[in-house]
Amino acid sequence: MRVFPTIREVLRDHCENDPVEVRGWVRTLRDNKSFCFVELGDGTCVATIQIVADSSLANYADVSHLSTGSSVAVKGVLVASPGSGQRLEIRAESVLIYHRAPSDYPLQKKRHSFEYLREIAHLRPRSNAIGAVFRMRSSMSRAIHEFFANNGFFYVHTPIITASDCEGAGEMFTVTTLDMREIPKSADGSVDHSQDFFGRHASLTVSGQLEGEVAATALSRIYTFGPTFRAENSNTPRHLAEFWMIEPEAAFFTLCENMDLAEDFVKHCIAHALKHNSDEIDFFNERIDSDLRARLENVLAAPFARVSYTEAISLLEKNNTNFAYPVKWGADIQTEHERYLSETVFAKPTIVYDYPKEIKSFYMKQNADGKTVRAMDVLVPQIGELIGGSEREDNYDVLLDRMRELGIDPKDYWWYLDLRKFGSVPHSGFGLGFERLLLFVTGMQNIRDVIPFPRFPGRAEF
Ligand code: 4AD
Ligand code: MG
Repeated sequence: MRVFPTIREVLRDHCENDPVEVRGWVRTLRDNKSFCFVELGDGTCVATIQIVADSSLANYADVSHLSTGSSVAVKGVLVASPGSGQRLEIRAESVLIYHRAPSDYPLQKKRHSFEYLREIAHLRPRSNAIGAVFRMRSSMSRAIHEFFANNGFFYVHTPIITASDCEGAGEMFTVTTLDMREIPKSADGSVDHSQDFFGRHASLTVSGQLEGEVAATALSRIYTFGPTFRAENSNTPRHLAEFWMIEPEAAFFTLCENMDLAEDFVKHCIAHALKHNSDEIDFFNERIDSDLRARLENVLAAPFARVSYTEAISLLEKNNTNFAYPVKWGADIQTEHERYLSETVFAKPTIVYDYPKEIKSFYMKQNADGKTVRAMDVLVPQIGELIGGSEREDNYDVLLDRMRELGIDPKDYWWYLDLRKFGSVPHSGFGLGFERLLLFVTGMQNIRDVIPFPRFPGRAEF
């Protein structure tokens, strides 16, 4: 590009004696009377660049009083830096001051708590940690598109507003234009959505899977990558009301092939982070979690563990006295159990498959045992569930029976059932929670700190 370089490009591509121009925000300033050092950052990399300005500058009086957060453009020459920590610095020939930040700028140079930073979500990307998280988000997005493009998957866009509840958990946000002061009611007292914008009850999607299956049974291999919404009242460091999900869906894939896909996908993302975001990983390793790099390298080192739910339960039962919620066959596996399996029992990512059908969704393919479905979850150390997926029920009658059993009205899913009527095929897919992946690759502790503007119970500011 023919514009001035970013600080990242200057540090990567330029050498001593090159004339350069950089623009950014002042981190700190040290003033030595006839000269001063400005630490300048522009958010493009972990590093900042040091500017040396001296009294030969016409506006030196102003430059030497620059405050943290002020915005400037600097022209000068790259020179070897005598100080430790950086190879090059800029000897300034001119400094243009765009704007001087007042002294109440909330991000003064010191460590701020993540709780405090959440209160200033409009400024926090300028902090080192959240800046690094944002770069990681961008890089992981690229890795995801790259992986699927390389493997013949088409990117499809599924709707955000929907009339179906994919997970059947009733955790959906209603979308309505009804007048909240005068809600029309049906004879039975329920809200009359026939008078609503869509002529029926509509919600924000919890998953693009059902529409993803439509695309996969046409284009063979597809994936979605978009926002999803859950109105679950979970105030945990792993749940958001709005999060991004990646959902591949592949025709002719059985559960085994689905597990292979999930494992290759996760490994690709981790390898991408280690290759392209080494500086960010070093930063997180030093500041946030000293085991991060080792944990990421460990993901690539060996095949994932794979155990059936039934085997997993017997492994967990041996440790039941140490769990807050003891497990038994039929119970849902919770975060403490997921972490115990992936951290203590196997010490690597672990895929659990063949769950009891009672704790899983209506669309999962039933096993011949009559008790379990072809579901799989990928569990990783520190996080627990990173991926949830399954082979889909492709038999029309079996699916119809299961829907009726669960009280789901087949009329609402006629188009979904049609996929089993016309050229039905085995097919599988999964959903990976993007923010959970980001927790994993950054070592950050709270999911609210890996999405720019977190939405959770009681909070939708910014
Ligand atoms: O296991 P889940 O609910 O699976 C589905 O939605 C399937 N329809 C996916 C599919 O087969 N296409 O969600 C998938 C993943 C979870 O493993 C988790 O990583 C993430 O989405 N997730 C959340 N992330 C943040 N906040 C929440 N409230 C989440 N709920 C699920
Ligand atoms: Mg799940």
